[in-house]
Amino acid sequence: MTQHKLTDRPAWKALQAHHRKIRRTHLKRMFSQDKQRGERLVLEALGIHLDYSKNRITDETLGLLFQLAEECGLRSHIDAMFRGDKINRTENRAVLHTALRAPKGKSIVVDGHDVVPQVHAVLDKMADLAHRVRGGAWTGHTGKRIRNVINVGIGGSDLGPVMAYEALRHYSQRDMTFRFVSNVDGTDFAEAVQALDPAETLFVISSKTFTTLETMTNAHTARDWSLKGFGGDPASVAKHFVAVSTNAKEVAAFGIDTANMFEFWDWVGGRYSMDSAIGLSTMIAIGPENFHLMLAGFHAMDEHFRTAPFERNLPVLLALLTVWYTDFFDAQTVAVLPYDQYLKRLPAYLQQLTMESNGKHVTLEGAHVDYNTSPIYWGEPGTNGQHSFYQLIHQGTRLIPCDFIAFGQTLNPLGRHHDILLANVFAQSEALAFGKTPKQVEAEGTPEWLVPHRVFEGNRPSNTIMIKRLTPETLGMLIALYEHSVFTQGAIWNIDSFDQWGVELGKALAQKIVPEIESTKEPKLKHDSSTNNLIRLARHLKQ
Ligand code: F6P
Repeated sequence: MTQHKLTDRPAWKALQAHHRKIRRTHLKRMFSQDKQRGERLVLEALGIHLDYSKNRITDETLGLLFQLAEECGLRSHIDAMFRGDKINRTENRAVLHTALRAPKGKSIVVDGHDVVPQVHAVLDKMADLAHRVRGGAWTGHTGKRIRNVINVGIGGSDLGPVMAYEALRHYSQRDMTFRFVSNVDGTDFAEAVQALDPAETLFVISSKTFTTLETMTNAHTARDWSLKGFGGDPASVAKHFVAVSTNAKEVAAFGIDTANMFEFWDWVGGRYSMDSAIGLSTMIAIGPENFHLMLAGFHAMDEHFRTAPFERNLPVLLALLTVWYTDFFDAQTVAVLPYDQYLKRLPAYLQQLTMESNGKHVTLEGAHVDYNTSPIYWGEPGTNGQHSFYQLIHQGTRLIPCDFIAFGQTLNPLGRHHDILLANVFAQSEALAFGKTPKQVEAEGTPEWLVPHRVFEGNRPSNTIMIKRLTPETLGMLIALYEHSVFTQGAIWNIDSFDQWGVELGKALAQKIVPEIESTKEPKLKHDSSTNNLIRLARHLKQ
């Protein structure tokens, strides 16, 4: 079968021509020509309000973007994912994070097995542990109640749990402490166990492969720290360590009873795993009922993505706008700006989701792409970012599409705080879109020499996502919205969004360098001169 090159598709060519036509059109003009634009270019679904009117698009742009999605076979890509086809071609795996939130009774067959009953069996086992830990029935080796839970993992085995814990902290059991250790830098572990009593501490070792260098190093350090608290009694491990993994053999080799192992499967990608047993720490924190509400939110967005026509489909729309800026305006980044302190780890979470998925340079067929793939996602919660990097978004030389995320109701009503917070979100997107002309600046009595400095060109695009309230359910919807947006982008770019070969080379080289740094004898170094020199310096600085 001949694969059409993306850049040869009629819709792509039409978008290029269309871009040349409208690339200088100012949002101010678009709004003045269409008085209803702010009400019209809005998509409301599942209680999520997406205002996309402040994008540099016309109805023609949207039509062409939807046509591009059709030409790229987006619908059949979606169906293939939900059906469990092995769409992760380079790893020959199905991609079924959607099965993790499928309700009981649904059937999704992978390699001849219905996976939904397995998913629910693990969820039930997690709920049993969560209830026992939260209620105090699961006690430590000395009979003390567990007060502290430490998740040890990295990448998808850390970012999802820590993001979800922070996002849903309001719903968490407040008399317990939750910490997350990811970095192989010993400081991360040392600080995480500060002032904690091993007799009250449960470690959740989370690793899909159970071979990741950082996690295994931290897990061994955790075991040493824990054992020390019990005079080295190995029987204590069963009470203070549980594992989340696909690799029962390695879990047993580490010394964790596989009865205390929570399973997941190779059809769950690391960065798509927060709904699997990798969410165990989240479930202990917020309780099984809330965890199930979160899954219901994910599932609702899955169903919306699977069934809604593209024109009314939140993830599809978000993705196509990203393609528009990335490939036609040559925008390099997307800023994600949640106006909610609880979402402070969302940008970090999205960085793995988006960039590990779509940071690819070849197509599914292995040909080098001749268009941009994933933009760089970054961000910070508002209003903090306003007092640091927003300057560049407003007046810098780069085009940075922004996603503003805000909630109608706060979980912490305190005087005027929330009204002020929301006023800031709306003010930012308004300022970015419409700016301030030299005339307006002059009219304020600004001296002539200062005018250029105070001008805001505007025409800087943004989406505003508004949701009534941050709950486990709406968090689930929000994350699934981005997951499926990433999927859609990958389908347009014709890349494998589910492998991550780009992380391998550094891992392999590190394994080689560790013994060179640790060796008591001077090692024979065979790297380039810079790397050799740095290794020698590190050895010297150790003394
Ligand atoms: O190095 C990248 C990666 O493979 C991620 O994709 C993954 O989420 C992370 O490492 C952790 O892997 P594991 O869960 O197997 O320890």
